[in-house]
Amino acid sequence: MELNNVTRPAGQAQPLSDEDKRFLRELVETNRTEHHGRLSYMDIMFELEHHYGNSLPGPVLGEVARLLGTSPAQLNGFVTFYTMLSTEPRGRHVVRVCTSGPCHVTGAPSIVAELKQLLGVELGETTSDGMFTLEASSCLGICGVSPALMIDDDAYGNLTPEDLPRILDAKRAGGAQ
Ligand code: FES
Repeated sequence: MELNNVTRPAGQAQPLSDEDKRFLRELVETNRTEHHGRLSYMDIMFELEHHYGNSLPGPVLGEVARLLGTSPAQLNGFVTFYTMLSTEPRGRHVVRVCTSGPCHVTGAPSIVAELKQLLGVELGETTSDGMFTLEASSCLGICGVSPALMIDDDAYGNLTPEDLPRILDAKRAGGAQ
C-alpha cells in the first residue's frame, strides 16, 4: 500500500494537523478497501508505526479509534496486548531479541548481553542518538534458526555475539544486512 513513506521523529505526540487527519482517514479507508469492507487493525497499526517513527502517539490512536468506530480504551487494549506495538517513543530501528525457550537455550542470553554492551542500553531503552531501541521478544516464529532477532522487518538467525557489530553497522548505514 502506497501512502506516505516519510516517517516522523520518534515519539511525536503533538495535536493532529489537518494533514495527519487526512492521512489517517485515507489509511483507514484504504485498509477497508483492501480487506473488502472489513478492517485489519494490525495492518493499520503497522502502517501507523511506520509513519510515526515506530510508536503510536495517543492523539493518533484517539483519532483512529474514532475512524474505526471503537473506543480509545478498546484500541489501547489491542495495542498493549501485542509487544511489537508501542505507544512509547522508540528509536529509528527496533531490535527485538527473542528470549523464548528455544532461543534461550541456544544462546539468547549472550546475544542480549552483547547487544546491551554494543548499544549501551538495557532492554526497553533507546540509544541516546535515537537510532536503536532494544527489546526482548517472545517467539519470532523462526525457532529453526535460533538464536534469532529482528530489526524492523528484517530477521537474523543462527546468531553469535560476533555477528552483531556487522548487523548493527549495516542498519546504521541504512542497509538490511
Ligand atoms: S523461540 Fe526464538 S524464534 Fe522461536
